[in-house]
Amino acid sequence: MLALGVLGSGRGSNCRALLESIRRGQLAAEVKVVISDVVGAPILEIAREFGVPHLYLTPGKFRSRLEPAAEAQLVRVLQDAGVELVVLAGWMRIVKQEILQAFPRRIINIHPSLLPKFPGLAAWQQALQANEKHAGATVHFVDEQIDHGAIIAQREVPILPGDSAESLHARIQKAEHALYPAAIRQLIEEGAI
Ligand code: GRF
Repeated sequence: MLALGVLGSGRGSNCRALLESIRRGQLAAEVKVVISDVVGAPILEIAREFGVPHLYLTPGKFRSRLEPAAEAQLVRVLQDAGVELVVLAGWMRIVKQEILQAFPRRIINIHPSLLPKFPGLAAWQQALQANEKHAGATVHFVDEQIDHGAIIAQREVPILPGDSAESLHARIQKAEHALYPAAIRQLIEEGAI
C-alpha cells in the first residue's frame, strides 16, 4: 500500500476522486493525511467524510509560499505520517527546496492543461483564448518551477464549439478525476515509487 499525503487549498474534487478510487479497490494506496493552508477548505471536509486525518497548516505571512516554520511543520507532519508520495491537489503555494529535498522525486501535481502548454492560473481559459482545438490535464513530478517537471501522464479533451470557460473547465476536471488515480497506479506498476 503506497502511503499518500494530499495537499490542497480548495474544493478537493481530485482528492475525492483518489479516495473513491482507493475505496473501490482500484488504487493500492492509502491517504495518510490531508493538509490544507486554507481554513475550512472543502478538501478538509472531504478528508473528514472519508475518515482520513486532516490538518489546517497556518501558512504564515506570505501569499504564494509557506513561511519557513510552516514548511518545516509540513515536512514533519508528512514524515510522521509515513507518507511516501506527496500529492498536490489544488495546492496554491510554491513548493520550495526544503520540501523538495525531503521528498526527492516523490511529489506530484495535477495541472489543467497539456503541459508544457499553459502553465499558471486558469489554464483552460488560456487554451480557449489561444483558439486551441484540444485541452487536457497533466500529472507531473514537481520541481522548483511552477507547473514544470517530468511529465508522468496526460489526458486530452476536445474544445467544442460554443465552449465557455466553465464548460471546458468541467470537462477537464472530469478527465483529471480519472487521470490522477491512473497516473499513481502507473507509477506503482512501473516501480517508479
Ligand atoms: C485542479 O483543476 C488542478 O488541476 C489544479 O487545481 C484544481 C484543483 O481542483 N491544480 P480540486 O480542488 O481538486 O477540485
